[in-house]
Amino acid sequence: MRLYSAFSIAVLAFGSLAAVSQNQATPKASQKSVQKAAAPQVAQTPPIHPTNQRLLAGTPPMGWNSWNFFAGRVTDQDIRNAADQLVATGMKDAGYVYVNIDDTWEGDRDADGVLHTNSKFPDMKALADYVHSKGLKLGIYSGPGPQTCAHFAGSLDHEAQDAQLYASWGIDYLKYDLCSFRQAVMTAQAPNDKAAQMQLMIAAYDKMNKSLKAAGRPIVYSFCQYGWDAVWEWGPSVGANAWRTTGDIQANWNSIYTILNEQAGLAKYAGPGHWNDPDMLEVGNGKLTLAENRTHFSMWAMLAAPLLAGNDLPNMTPDVRAILTNRDVIAIDQDRLGSEATRAYSEGELDVWTRHLSGGAMAIAIINAGSDRYSTHPFHLSLAKLGLHGPLKAKNLWTGEDVTLTDNMPLELPSHEILLVRIAAPK
Ligand code: GLA
Repeated sequence: MRLYSAFSIAVLAFGSLAAVSQNQATPKASQKSVQKAAAPQVAQTPPIHPTNQRLLAGTPPMGWNSWNFFAGRVTDQDIRNAADQLVATGMKDAGYVYVNIDDTWEGDRDADGVLHTNSKFPDMKALADYVHSKGLKLGIYSGPGPQTCAHFAGSLDHEAQDAQLYASWGIDYLKYDLCSFRQAVMTAQAPNDKAAQMQLMIAAYDKMNKSLKAAGRPIVYSFCQYGWDAVWEWGPSVGANAWRTTGDIQANWNSIYTILNEQAGLAKYAGPGHWNDPDMLEVGNGKLTLAENRTHFSMWAMLAAPLLAGNDLPNMTPDVRAILTNRDVIAIDQDRLGSEATRAYSEGELDVWTRHLSGGAMAIAIINAGSDRYSTHPFHLSLAKLGLHGPLKAKNLWTGEDVTLTDNMPLELPSHEILLVRIAAPK
């Protein structure tokens, strides 16, 4: 029981913090039209193009994306501010290097088919130079259809041209979003043939894959088609460095917990250079409590997910910054073994996930998705169900404390809280 006390105190230390909610407004997705302005243009499946070797050997990409906070309002200045803040807050030093512009940067194509930016992004090359000058990388967004999800220009029939344009600007990351391709191409060309529709989709993603490689610049290629049609089975063969496994995340517990549960069973498809993507982080957005922010961040790290923050960096609270820059948790995400967590077992509202780490280490995450668990009705952790034997020395990655795990030890966990531990030498 002494062990229990020490452990539960560490866990309950989050209790008071968990009551504090974040009050940052998250604007709704905007489809508003933007004034057009002038401007200038197979993972692990051989053969791997030389320009993509580095990406394929890599750990999950880390950075920031504009969509979850700014949606359609994002501007050049917001991207510069985000880059500045990644540096100023220490996030860059913690590993966040991609600054990704999501939808609504696009303008019109000219007579030669060259895509121009709209008035929110007056000079993309200058923006890329600015981001690069900070030691960061710049990401951009498009899709295989005639239009993006926010009804801006997509890359259909301009794939090579767009890939060359991105390379000429110095783009380092492309999120490629299915959206209008379904109606405009799949349904239109093969109305009653699902198999043919799927082949059209795969061919479209491969077309941009080949275009990016021909453009000659290493560009992380991130698929966004919401996890349809078992994308994890075919995405890597057409160049995906990451593929969305879900619909759009929202800044609330139900969305995050639903997405988390949908990841069970997908671990075997991920590995170095090709990752399941349960969507971008909502840490610091909406009314997520600190416990929910911790659980969200911890589990995306356990899932070896791309860690793309999506919050308002200039107005980030110290608590949110501390979560996003927790080096121990980031190290789980970035572990070079690249082995994603699996759900070991659930018991009512409690879930236990484990992840194998390099050097024979292991991470265990225990989530309470229900109401507070007190000493009167604690959760009992079964090490036997994890193939482990206590006592085991571990580190609590949120308190930094050393803890000892014993079989069937009782755990108190506040609602939506996580206990995340790393065991250096599991047995
Ligand atoms: C889709 C994607 C989102 C975002 C928007 C932009 O909904 O899933 O992540 O990129 O499009 O329009």
